[in-house]
Amino acid sequence: MLQSINQLNPDIVVITGDLTENGFSAEYNGVKRFIDRITCKDKVLVPGNHDSKNAGYLHFEDLFENRFSTKNIGNLTIVGADSSQPDLDEGHLGRENYGWIKEAFSGETFKVFALHHHLVPIPLAGRENTVLVDAGDVLDLLNRCKVNLVLCGHCHIPHVWNLNNMLVVNAGTFCSSKTRGKTTQCFNLIQAESNKETGRRDVEKIENGGWKVRVSRVFPHGNIELITETVM
Ligand SMILES: [Fe+2]
Repeated sequence: MLQSINQLNPDIVVITGDLTENGFSAEYNGVKRFIDRITCKDKVLVPGNHDSKNAGYLHFEDLFENRFSTKNIGNLTIVGADSSQPDLDEGHLGRENYGWIKEAFSGETFKVFALHHHLVPIPLAGRENTVLVDAGDVLDLLNRCKVNLVLCGHCHIPHVWNLNNMLVVNAGTFCSSKTRGKTTQCFNLIQAESNKETGRRDVEKIENGGWKVRVSRVFPHGNIELITETVM
């Protein structure tokens, strides 16, 4: 996976949580060494429910950035938010965070929101409660902010929903063997291009001055499968 990511040479790497099993210091130290081998300089990490077990969120804060972060990189804004709660599996964002998230997304950039828990239900998740307890309010917030892309983790099920021209992309797992059903290990490769920014001849003209977004899955032997392509 490291080789594959480093060869793809992305602008940003987003890791949507569950870096550890139980949030212990030794696990975090191993994860830190692993993630440091990803050469991309802009990484956004959010903790998952496993990372907040046993007060593991304290190690997260020491080794990585804040559990909540905003980055503006070129004409992209990415907000990472901690949806975990100590020693609970359920996800929650909380009304106290809605204001600064709205503020962070007030510009005319390509907007990405990253969190661990699911924003909307996805297939194969069974009867487990995997969706944020305040999912309806968060969905409304992100929709009003015209967020382009939501990145979630949690259940190791790769999936894409297109909701009101907002792509909600769930990650599978690459580093663990916990694949569900007939899914296989993979990570998501997301390419967003604007005709305003590139001027490249190999990029087709994008109508309406918007963004062309491609979501693909990268598998262990480096095979890449295009899942969806949309203009927004
Ligand atoms: Fe999780």
